[in-house]
Amino acid sequence: MIPLNAEDNVNSGAILQAVNLHYGYGDGAMALQGASCEFPKGGFTLLLGRNGSGKTTLLHHLNRLLAPQQGTVIFKGRPLGSYPQREIHRAIGLMFQDPNDQLFGATVFEDVAFGPRNLGSREPEVSESVRTILDDLKIAHLAERPVHRLSFGQKRRVALAGVLAMNPEVILLDEPTAGLDPEGCEDLFGLLRVLNDRGITVIMATQELDAAVDYAREVTVLADGRVIATGDPATVLQDRDLLESVCVSPASPGSLPPSTGNWALVHPRTPSP
Ligand SMILES: Nc1ncnc2c1ncn2[C@@H]1O[C@H](COP(=O)(O)OP(=O)(O)OP(=O)(O)O)[C@@H](O)[C@H]1O
Ligand SMILES: [Mg+2]
Repeated sequence: MIPLNAEDNVNSGAILQAVNLHYGYGDGAMALQGASCEFPKGGFTLLLGRNGSGKTTLLHHLNRLLAPQQGTVIFKGRPLGSYPQREIHRAIGLMFQDPNDQLFGATVFEDVAFGPRNLGSREPEVSESVRTILDDLKIAHLAERPVHRLSFGQKRRVALAGVLAMNPEVILLDEPTAGLDPEGCEDLFGLLRVLNDRGITVIMATQELDAAVDYAREVTVLADGRVIATGDPATVLQDRDLLESVCVSPASPGSLPPSTGNWALVHPRTPSP
């Protein structure tokens, strides 16, 4: 049994820790049922698990969008709930599973600029950093476009731009490749690798194991609201029984480390409405 006292559980190598999280949405079903895991500072972690296993609910706890009903999230050695909401929002960016839940600015530029402006950055700095990020994400040409006139994939890029504009220490991504074309996926992972190399911690829920595994340094597997495995990808992914239990099956050759065989999740996700 994991003790609930946050201080007893602090791991100084972890930037974020979930300690025995329980969360139910109110209709009786428990989305998290004692989820515990650690995310190393500077790590690149994939969260795997079948639909409904609790990936989104866990991510929403990691930036305090949801508060645990039981258990604790620890950020840099302190309970996440003890930080001002503004600091959490700056330091831990979340890219939602559905970009429509995230975007609200009138135009792309206004949307991405909202966060830095809210932090009190001066307008010339805001403008320069937003333009740079839009450029990096290959959406500079969309700067003045109304958000509601974007394609789904374009919205995903704008949502990521909004996260990056805050200069976060941790980026949480909830199935970020759903709705992206192959070039968009490649761009996204390339960018995440650059950010990760700069020391930003990346935590990504994904069903696109094939595409993501080369980038990951850790894998955490959820089932029924609990963490059932965690570790380096080669070790975790060679457990075929485990992968089958979370809905993983043989997939395209050559995409995973040889020791793992070739696997991808059986049910590729479509974006939720
Ligand atoms: N807003 C909600 N209201 C009620 N129940 C919810 C809500 N969101 C999620 N749940 C339930 O909580 C459980 C965990 O859902 P969650 O969205 O965290 O899973 P997930 O692993 O992200 O799934 P997916 O792969 O489909 O995105 C599921 O049983 C789900 O039905
Ligand atoms: Mg989800």
